[in-house]
Amino acid sequence: MVERSRKDILETLTEGLSKLEYRGYDSTGVAVDGDTDGTSLIIKNPGKVSQLKEKINNTLNFDEYNPEYINHVGIAHTRWATHGEPSVSNAHPQRSDINGEFVVVHNGIITNYRELKTLLLNKGFKFESDTDTECIAKLFKLFYDTNLENGIEIDFNALTKEVLSELDGAYGLLCRSSHYPGEVICTRKGSPLLIGVKSEKNLKVDFVDVEFVDDSSDDQITLNDTKLNNPHKQKADEEKVFFAPITNNNPNLRYSQSRAFLSEDGIPIPIEFFISSDASSVVKHTKKVLFLEDNDVAHIYDGELHIHRFKPREDGDKITRPIQTLELELAQIMKGDYNHFMQKEIFEQPESTLNTMRGRLDFQNKSVKLGGLTNWLPTIKRARRLLMIACGTSYHSCLAVRQMFEELSEIPVSIELASDFLDRKAPVFRDDVCIFVSQSGETADSMQALKFCLERGALTIGIVNTVGSSISRSTHCGVHINAGPEIGVASTKAYTSQYIALAMLALSLSDDSLSSLGKRQEIISNLQKIPEQIKQILQLEPQIKSICKKLQGEQSLLLLGRGYQYACALEGALKIKEISYMHSEGILAGELKHGVLALVDENLPIIALGTRDSLFPKVVSSIEQVIARKGKPIVICNKDDEYWLSKKADNPSIELIEVPGTSDCLQGLLNIIPLQLMSYWLAVNQGFDVDFPRNLAKSVTVE
Ligand code: UD1
Ligand code: F6R
Repeated sequence: MVERSRKDILETLTEGLSKLEYRGYDSTGVAVDGDTDGTSLIIKNPGKVSQLKEKINNTLNFDEYNPEYINHVGIAHTRWATHGEPSVSNAHPQRSDINGEFVVVHNGIITNYRELKTLLLNKGFKFESDTDTECIAKLFKLFYDTNLENGIEIDFNALTKEVLSELDGAYGLLCRSSHYPGEVICTRKGSPLLIGVKSEKNLKVDFVDVEFVDDSSDDQITLNDTKLNNPHKQKADEEKVFFAPITNNNPNLRYSQSRAFLSEDGIPIPIEFFISSDASSVVKHTKKVLFLEDNDVAHIYDGELHIHRFKPREDGDKITRPIQTLELELAQIMKGDYNHFMQKEIFEQPESTLNTMRGRLDFQNKSVKLGGLTNWLPTIKRARRLLMIACGTSYHSCLAVRQMFEELSEIPVSIELASDFLDRKAPVFRDDVCIFVSQSGETADSMQALKFCLERGALTIGIVNTVGSSISRSTHCGVHINAGPEIGVASTKAYTSQYIALAMLALSLSDDSLSSLGKRQEIISNLQKIPEQIKQILQLEPQIKSICKKLQGEQSLLLLGRGYQYACALEGALKIKEISYMHSEGILAGELKHGVLALVDENLPIIALGTRDSLFPKVVSSIEQVIARKGKPIVICNKDDEYWLSKKADNPSIELIEVPGTSDCLQGLLNIIPLQLMSYWLAVNQGFDVDFPRNLAKSVTVE
């Protein structure tokens, strides 16, 4: 409840968006009050925030018309495409209908959006975008209208809970509505959201009470109840009061006025709320912020913030949300608790790997569904051979899964570096299936190779992080790895997500094979454990840091692996040379005796991948050869592995980095984590700019 002009409001919103630019995005949008009551003014644009600002200034003539508001809700969004290409219609905010009765911005993924969309289409809704988010806006309208038909003027918060009960997946979402002027809802599950609180006077207390309601889900309208099929309607007609109104009189409610929003002398104070998924867009206005928890529904109206719970109260639920003072500078906030994006991205892997699997792997029924490939699977299964084509880290993820493809699909697989493939003008045939793996989706070599394969009539599949990128658009079909934007030049979380996406593709190709059933089930069960296992490995950071201290000053490093672990040795070596500028080489352990052994002495640092699989005896024998030449290997081995523990007892100069065990074909997902951390600390210890290594760019768009 503070006086602001439309221009001020839009400037605040776009400026907030520009603070989020560092996270990567492809389109932008804002929604504010329209010129006539009950409408929303929505302006959206693919491209940069600066282009959105231009569009706003071109669309609205502030010199002629710039209304003032004392209570106003504006929402804005930068979108990183997951559902549909970057375009005006796919940008957020998304609306319920042409008047924008309900307008929504959303981070996250609604995994049951296809089912919701089908239901909403059946109920007559017309969709304007390919986004999952549009379903949310339309659900708000559907439930609002249904309640109204039943004679219920539902409160915004109660309406939100009805909508949330239909959503699967992850969300941080805001909704404004012409039916609730000056009110906003924000809620989260699995996606961050915080509220900045700005007032001239000091707040009375530095927390907000959570308002719990007992579970009233029996009375809630659900999708099956609405319009076409509403068993509740009759009940509502009889009882008239259907929803317990949220008032002080409701005995089910532990109601408490938001004490925080009174001044110290107890009088309500003018206040502004800034809601964001990221503190960086809020700190300019206020350092006082409140972090929402999963299933919180924050409802702001009349200058007050109320926090409700979507779930019934459970033991241990906190009854307040503290309003904290951020002490951090902007750059620090953008990186969270991390010093570099690379470190942040390494530590994001428990979530990014989960996001790759979300909605695609059914752990209970042990099945895989890659929406983007469903129609193409029969053709892919008939392929004469699979060609995997990529560069750098993305090439390594192809190498890491090759054996899994050969074992499960029984289709011959060849792996190609895009530049070499082009140099050779390698033969490609119509019955080949060519898989292009790329984080950015813009790598020139991979793109050229894709054109080459398209010209020869092969079926092309993309495994890409960036939706709307050239490779994603030019391939026949594909899988978005959904790792989220990767900013550090050294690829980390994209690697583990590519690995998982490819593993899911291998599983899909063998879903009708009885002989591989047992192996498939084992892999799916083990994939479920990966995020948690990565979390455990990340806790080894202090040990890895101290190993890196000891390695300081070394000029060269060898990494040994074989079988499934060869790719890991190559990828670890690439990470190390790329950011710490130290010469490092990944060696196939079986090749050691064919030349490389000549390098080995007591001085050359060696990292050996010694986790258990069928090749373990051979790996051990290679490492023994190193030890026999006084080498002091650092061994990545399974936790509590008796062989390595006893080896270390005999020879204390051996370092062990112990990681959990999993399927042989997934072990590389875990073994790479210590190597990513090691490359990071080797570089940081030397004071190098980890996020922007010399001579390298994030997207290599030149050949
Ligand atoms: C979709 C959502 C995803 C969500 C999932 C849950 C999109 C863009 N993605 O994923 O966020 O988790 O539903 O149900 O809607 N494609 C290519 N080339 C590529 C990559 C993809 O042609 O390199 C195509 C696919 O064939 C598909 C579309 O792009 O037609 C979307 O791909 P993807 O995001 O992987 O689809 P879903 O797994 O269905
Ligand atoms: C290494 C790295 C590069 C990329 C390569 C391909 O950390 O990031 O090796 O993997 O340039 O890029 P994308 O995957 O975008 O095609």
